[in-house]
Amino acid sequence: MQVAAKKIIVLGTGGTIAGTAAQAGDNVGYRAGERPVQALLAGLGGQALPPGLELAAEQVAQIDSKDADFAFWLALHARCAAHLADDAVRGIVITHGTDTLEETAWFLASTLPAGKPVVLTCAMRPATALSPDGPQNLCDALALANDLGAPGVSVVSAGAVYLPQQVQKLHPYCVDAIGSGEGGPAGWMEEGRLRLAHPWPSQGAAAAPWRLPEPGAAWPWVEIVLSHAGSSGAQVDALVRAGVDGLVVAGTGNGTLHQALEPALRRAQQAGVAVRVTSRCAFGRIVGTPAHGLPLAEGLAPVKARIALLLELLQRP
Ligand code: SIN
Repeated sequence: MQVAAKKIIVLGTGGTIAGTAAQAGDNVGYRAGERPVQALLAGLGGQALPPGLELAAEQVAQIDSKDADFAFWLALHARCAAHLADDAVRGIVITHGTDTLEETAWFLASTLPAGKPVVLTCAMRPATALSPDGPQNLCDALALANDLGAPGVSVVSAGAVYLPQQVQKLHPYCVDAIGSGEGGPAGWMEEGRLRLAHPWPSQGAAAAPWRLPEPGAAWPWVEIVLSHAGSSGAQVDALVRAGVDGLVVAGTGNGTLHQALEPALRRAQQAGVAVRVTSRCAFGRIVGTPAHGLPLAEGLAPVKARIALLLELLQRP
């Protein structure tokens, strides 16, 4: 950790935090990813950073995060990796949409070295709202990125700090939409200071370097399938015929599978498709070993299990 490093990098990627509506009171009918990251910082009026630090902003993307894709992940990863390798950089803030925030957080946590803070933040109300939540979230993120005691990827929203494995968007509208379920926050930002709920965990990401595709090169094709009342194997069979590489199954409850889906997943496995089972429950994790015996994605929500499987497939020779 570079204690003497003085630079905080802010990477803008779009989202509601950079969204604008035609009418100030409209918190729903707006376009995400409109305001440049430099304008978001300017809106803080120079109050954002503790004295002695230097701020540099870069617009990596300007998207609604529902449209995030591999090219977006790679571009963001590349800018984070380059800045983290710079001895002058103390920490990174990423402004991001809430909709796929947890996916980007998990992807970055899985693939970046964990020595310096990389803080994602967001907003549920656009920048034009009567009472926007973005500015305070951005202030909190800047303070957290300055905290040498919080290395690795984290998320800050509505005053709380979350870690990548458990963070989730839990509500489509309320300002307090981001959470970690039963895991709770890792801490809280209070007047520019981090108050920890428990000791900051060391993040394992640095087991990397992961092999990532060159920009424009193909990624493995991994889909998520949901086990639900009335499930059949037709979707799985169709995906296998179409050449899918991996399937993550959001199973019921404790990772169980509809009896009509299970044989199709075995056929997929026999055809060489990687299958991982997780639970569609919002909280908790699969306990024990479900009777089907298919491989589990331990402790990961389906969207994060998909990222883990993508990375696993990418490492195969
Ligand atoms: C987005 O995810 O980019 C739009 C929604 C949001 O940021 O809350």
